Order: sequence, then C-alpha cells, then structure tokens
Amino acid sequence: MSGPVNSVSKQMNVDTDIITLTRFILQEQQTVAPTATGELSLLLNALQFAFKFIAHNIRRAELVNLIGVSGSANSTGDVQKKLDVIGDEIFINAMRSSNNVKVLVSEEQEDLIVFPGGGTYAVCTDPIDGSSNIDAGVSVGTIFGVYKLQEGSTGGISDVLRPGKEMVAAGYTMYGASAHLALTTGHGVNLFTLDTQLGEFILTHPNLKLPDTKNIYSLNEGYSNKFPEYVQDYLKDIKKEGYSLRYIGLMVADVHRTLLYGGIFAYPTLKLRVLYECFPMALLMEQAGGSAVTIKGERILDILPKGIHDKSSIVLGSKGEVEKSLKHVPK
Ligand code: AHG
Ligand code: MN
Ligand code: MN
Repeated sequence: MSGPVNSVSKQMNVDTDIITLTRFILQEQQTVAPTATGELSLLLNALQFAFKFIAHNIRRAELVNLIGVSGSANSTGDVQKKLDVIGDEIFINAMRSSNNVKVLVSEEQEDLIVFPGGGTYAVCTDPIDGSSNIDAGVSVGTIFGVYKLQEGSTGGISDVLRPGKEMVAAGYTMYGASAHLALTTGHGVNLFTLDTQLGEFILTHPNLKLPDTKNIYSLNEGYSNKFPEYVQDYLKDIKKEGYSLRYIGLMVADVHRTLLYGGIFAYPTLKLRVLYECFPMALLMEQAGGSAVTIKGERILDILPKGIHDKSSIVLGSKGEVEKSLKHVPK
C-alpha cells in the first residue's frame, strides 16, 4: 500500500499495520487450515490470555509480595501465594473457562485434570519454569504443548501419553523486561513480543530459523562427573575448539537464546520433564530447522511417555551441533 497515509506513518516512524497474535492466528487458520473448525484458534486465544495474566502478575510480583514461600501470611493476614501456585491457578482457570480444553497436565498437579465441559484438546504445561529465578530478577517462563483428543476419547490419560510428534501446537512464553512468545502449530516457529501498552503480542520474528552451527554450549557443567564418559569427552573436545559457555539455568531462556543465536543446549541427566519441558521445546527446535534428541541420539518427539511426569535427558539446538555431539555416542 502507498499514498499519503503511508508516507505520514513513515515520517512519524509508526507501523500502522502490525500483526498481532490474534490476527496471526486467524490468518494462519484461513491459509493453512481453511476447513478447520476454529477451535484451535479459540484455544490459542485462551492461552494468550493466560500468558498476559501471568506476565501481569510477574510485573507486579514485588509490589504485592508474590515472591516467597507459598502459605506465608502478609501483614493483613491474607495467605500469600507463591508464583508457582498463582501461575498454575491462572493456567487451570484459563483452560477450563475456554471450554475447549478437556484434559490438562500441569507440573504443579500430581494427577491430570479432566474438565467437565466438552473440550477437544489436551494441554500439558509447566506454568512457571524457573520460579527460583524470580527472587534474583531473572526471567521465568511458561511452557506448553497441545494435543487434539484421540478419536472417540472423552478425555483421559491416553490423550497425553503419546509421542510429542502428535502435538498440534507448542511453545513457551518468557517473562522478562517484556514477554516473548514462541509458537508453533506445525508450520514453522513465530516469535511474538508483548506490547504492554497495547496489551497485544506483536509478531516480531516471523518464521524463525536457527543457524546450522554456532560455537555456544549450554548445560550445567557443575554436574559433569555425573555425565557418561562420552558426554565428558565431547565437552573436552568443544572446549579445545574454544566454544563459549552460556547457561542461564532456565530452560525457557536457554532455549530462547539457542533459537535466536544457535548453539547447543543439553540436560544430560534426568531432570527435565517429557510432556511439558522436552516435547514442546523439541517441536519448536525441529520446526525452526534444528533438532532435539536424548543423549543417546533418539529423537525426543518419538518418545512414548509412560507417566505424565516422566523425565528424559535432552540435547537440542543447531542441527550441525547436535550431530557433532552424537559422534561421541558409543555405537
Ligand atoms: P522448574 O522451575 O519448572 O522446576 O524448572 C527448572 C529447570 C529448568 O528451567 C532448567 O533448565 C533446570 O531446571 C536447571 O536445572 P539446574 O539448576 O540443575 O541446572
Ligand atoms: Mn521447568
Ligand atoms: Mn515449573
């Protein structure tokens, strides 16, 4: 489009045609899934509300004393809730009230939740990833993965004990100076930034692809004597090559950097959870042209989980870097 409006907006340095998450979701539905029912769009809308609400609470966390231990009381006697609890409650309420989520798995809930309504999706979430960071002013995040319910299912554990490659959407939101949302619905990865004034996520990095190689490694090397010898050998090799170490200790932030700059992120021992940490990040990586495997080289998205809180080792990032690390795995 050209003309006077465009030239004025250019002079004023105002983009008058921004792509909000809502606009993006509707456009994607029309272009890549024109026969879709629109249910996934409604679900993504409920998710973005949860992210905005959590972001809002994190911004005011200090003011309202959300930081600290769950169960402690403030001066007026109100029970204070730790951010993990608030994030979990916000997420559960947003998914229940959307009326299109039937099953919810949350890191904070021992059992899965089956909502009474008639939803057709199952959502797995780590509502607050890295809550221990918040006291130090470091970012935290929310990770999520979405499955369509199995054919004929009325909502149960079998809807989520499935390989990650069957997810229909996944992503994370990182709450920092501003909130960033990385989203995939299986058609690449798009990164949005929350404009707090507008209250909208704006598309800032369309169709994000990470570089094939980059000399950055990210893992908790303090635990290296617990790693198999071949992982330790790999680390010795890349250090000889002068790789840089970058480790925030927050999966969302370490993956976010890896998506933007490339490199390799790993958690070689069993800590990270399959359904709501490994799977969503693995789908994002693959959709951005990278890869995600276990330390033995098995594709993360092929794992068949046996329990909702199962754990896995994980190595993800630039394709070339992941391949290079796998050369050390004994045949
Ligand atoms: P959570 O706060 O949901 O329990 O997750 C924290 C995770 C993850 O974000 C990060 O990658 C990892 O813990 C860091 O673990 P270490 O402190 O063992 O390195
Ligand atoms: Mn986590
Ligand atoms: Mn968590």
